[in-house]
Order: sequence, then structure tokens, then C-alpha cells
Amino acid sequence: MASFALAISFGLPLAWAGTPTVEPETVPDVLIRQHGTRLPKVAPVEEDYARNCQGCHGHEGHSVTEVPRLQGRAGWFTHTREGRAYLVQVPNVQQAALSDERLATMLNWLLAQFSSEQLKPGFEPYSAAEVHALRAQPLESVIARRREVIDGLVRAGVIPDATALAFSLEPGRY
Ligand code: HEC
Repeated sequence: MASFALAISFGLPLAWAGTPTVEPETVPDVLIRQHGTRLPKVAPVEEDYARNCQGCHGHEGHSVTEVPRLQGRAGWFTHTREGRAYLVQVPNVQQAALSDERLATMLNWLLAQFSSEQLKPGFEPYSAAEVHALRAQPLESVIARRREVIDGLVRAGVIPDATALAFSLEPGRY
């Protein structure tokens, strides 16, 4: 029993030596508090994604087929001016409860994290000012704009055809 208790109190911090951890008393879960378990701290940008986006888009940028996959795809949008704007103007991004600065940081993180290989060569990260200006022009119809943007990506030769960015909800049904 003593060695078990030792393993609990010393095993986890040793295993994560160097990883920043959260103070157990600040964690909502009672068992974590009682055991003093040290959980790894997530970076603020990851927390912004987790709180605002992950529920639909998944921890790694993909989830159910009704939600478009960001992993291995989102970067394609950065190849055209309209696509770059669309990434900010898509309603759940445009309306996210995040400042322009935090949203710009999170979009840049998301693109690097999930879709760096698809990014336009020489991709310029979003700035807070660019995000601010784009958010001020919400889309009238996300379905119509998504189609236009994807047609533009096909015309520009970024993707072979629209199926490269398809998801299972038929446009017009949502
Ligand atoms: C309620 C579910 C939901 C949440 C929350 C959500 N999204 Fe989305 N996201 C969607 C859907 C559905 C689409 C397809 C376009 C549409 O219908 O708005 C989409 C489209 C996108 C796109 C464009 C990709 C494409 O193929 O059209 C990006 C980028 C994106 N979301 C990022 C985010 C980010 C970043 C957040 C958090 C700030 C977020 N989303 C939150 C459901 C969600």
C-alpha cells in the first residue's frame, strides 16, 4: 500500500518532469483534487480551440462527417484571396467569442497544426487587423460563398475538384 501511495504521489510528476502542470485544487473534478493529480497545462491557444471549436471539429481537426474536416484540408483555402477571407468569415469563426487578436493567433495555430502541408507557399499569418476587417463583413450565405470559394480553388488548380473539400451535409440541407 505504501509503495502504491508513493507511486501515485511521485510517479506522475516524475513522468511529466518539465511539462507545466495545473494546480490540482483549481481543477473542477473532485477526484483530481483529492488525489492531487497533476494534469498537463494546455497552451492558451489550444484552450481557445478546445472551448470554441473542438466540440464540432474534434481534438485533431476531424470528427463526424457532417462537419468539414480541417485536418489536411483547411490550408487549401489560403491559396486564394476569397478562401483566405472565408476562413475568417465562416459563421462559427466570425462570431467566436474571442478577440480579433486571439482569433488570429488561433487560426494561425490551427492552420499550422492541422494543415501545414496544404498552406500556400509563403503563407502570411493572419493579423488581428485583417481578422477585424473580415469579421466586419459577415457572409450573407455561407453555403453560396463556400461553393464560390471552392469553385475558385478548382479553377486555380489548388484542388482537382470540389469533392476534395466535400462533407456529408448536402449544401442546401442545413
Ligand atoms: C456547431 C459546430 C461548429 C463549431 C462550434 C465550429 N464549427 Fe467550424 N464549421 C462547422 C460547419 C458545419 C462548417 C461548414 C460551413 C458552415 O456551415 O458554417 C464549418 C466550417 C469551418 C471552416 C471552413 C472549412 C470548410 O471546409 O468549409 C473552418 C476553418 C472552421 N469551421 C473553423 C472553426 C473554428 C476555428 C471554430 C472555433 C472558433 C469553429 N469552426 C467552430 C461547424 C462548427
